[in-house]
Amino acid sequence: MSFRLQPTPPARLNRCQLFGPGSNTKLPPKMAASDADVINLDLEDSVSPNDKDQARKNIIEAISDIDWGNKTLSVRINSLDTPYWYRDVVDLLEQAGDRLDMLMIPKVGCAEDIYAIDALATAVERAKGRTKPVKFEVIIESAAGIAHVEEIAAASPRLEAMSLGAADFAASMGMQTTGIGGTQEDYYMLQEGQKYWSDPWHWAQAAIVAACRTHGLLPVDGPFGDFSDDEGFRAQARRSATLGMVGKWAIHPKQVALANEVFTPGNEKVAEAREILAAMEEATRTGAGATVYKGRLVDIASIKQAEVIVKQSELIAG
Ligand code: COA
Ligand code: MG
Repeated sequence: MSFRLQPTPPARLNRCQLFGPGSNTKLPPKMAASDADVINLDLEDSVSPNDKDQARKNIIEAISDIDWGNKTLSVRINSLDTPYWYRDVVDLLEQAGDRLDMLMIPKVGCAEDIYAIDALATAVERAKGRTKPVKFEVIIESAAGIAHVEEIAAASPRLEAMSLGAADFAASMGMQTTGIGGTQEDYYMLQEGQKYWSDPWHWAQAAIVAACRTHGLLPVDGPFGDFSDDEGFRAQARRSATLGMVGKWAIHPKQVALANEVFTPGNEKVAEAREILAAMEEATRTGAGATVYKGRLVDIASIKQAEVIVKQSELIAG
C-alpha cells in the first residue's frame, strides 16, 4: 500500500439500484416494496421535457409519503447541459425532507460539474437549515466522463458512488451499437474461423473501478437494456462483480433478484474465503507468510482478497 491508504467506501449495500420515471406515480410504492438496496427516482431521460415539473412534484411527494424502509433513496437530476437541473436541486433540497439520501448526477464530464452542484446544494442546505448533507452519485456516460474519471471521483466529499451508463456512453464514444450493455455481436476476435466475443465495456468499467477504489466510492454497473434476457444480465453482472463493481442497475423489477443474486457472494465462495483466512491465521501463528490451500499458494495478499468476500457477506447479513 502506498503511504496514502486506500479509503474505505461507504459501508452500505448497493447490489441493485432500481429506477423508475418520476412521471409515473404508480411506481414508487412498488419500488419501495422491492428488494433493491437503492432506489433511483428519475427526473432525467425517462421523463419527457413536458413532464419535468410534474415529475419533480411527484417525486417530492413520494419521498415523504412512502415508507422507504432502510433503502438508500436517490433522485436522478437532469444534466448540466439542460435548463432543468438547478430547479431539480433547489426544489428537492428545499421541499423534500431529510429522507432523501442522494442526488444522482448524470452525464458528468469534469470535476467542475460536481463543484457547481456542490456549491448550489451547499447554499440551499444552509439557507434551509438542512442538517443532513445530501450525498452525490454520478454516472460516467460520455467520452469526457471517462477521460476525466479520476478527477471526477475526487471532486467532492459528498460523492458515494459512480455508475457506468452504457447507452449514453456508447453514443458519446460513437460506438456502432444500439445495445444497452452486454455482448456486442461485432466485437469479436477470429481464430481459425471461430468467433470469440470480447467485452467492449471492460475498459470503461475497469477505469471506473480504479477511480472509485482510489477515492473511496462504490463502483456500480449501469443498465442492461434487454430485460427479457436474464442470462445476458447475469453474464454482464458477473463480469462486473469480478472486476470489483458492487452492484448493478435494474430498469425493470425482474432484474432486481438477478442483481441481488450475482452481487451476494454465494455460500461456497464465503466458506472458501473463511477457510483461506483460517489457513493464513494458522500459517501466521507458525511464523510463515505463505502456505498451501487446496494445492495453491495463499499468502498475506490472499487475506485481503478473502476479506473482500467475507466483509461483503457480513454487510449483507447485517
Ligand atoms: N419499478 C417498479 N415496478 C415496476 C417498474 C419499475 N421500474 N416497471 C414496471 N413495474 C411494474 C409494473 O407497474 C407492473 O406492475 P403490475 O404487475 O402491478 O401491473 C409490473 O412491474 C410489470 O411491468 P411490465 O408490464 O413488465 O412493464 P411495463 O411495460 O409496465 O414497463 C418499462 C416497462 C421499461 C417502461 C418500466 O419498467 C420502466 O419504466 N422502467 C424504468 C425506466 C427508467 O427509469 N429508466 C431510466 C434509467 S435507465
Ligand atoms: Mg444516460
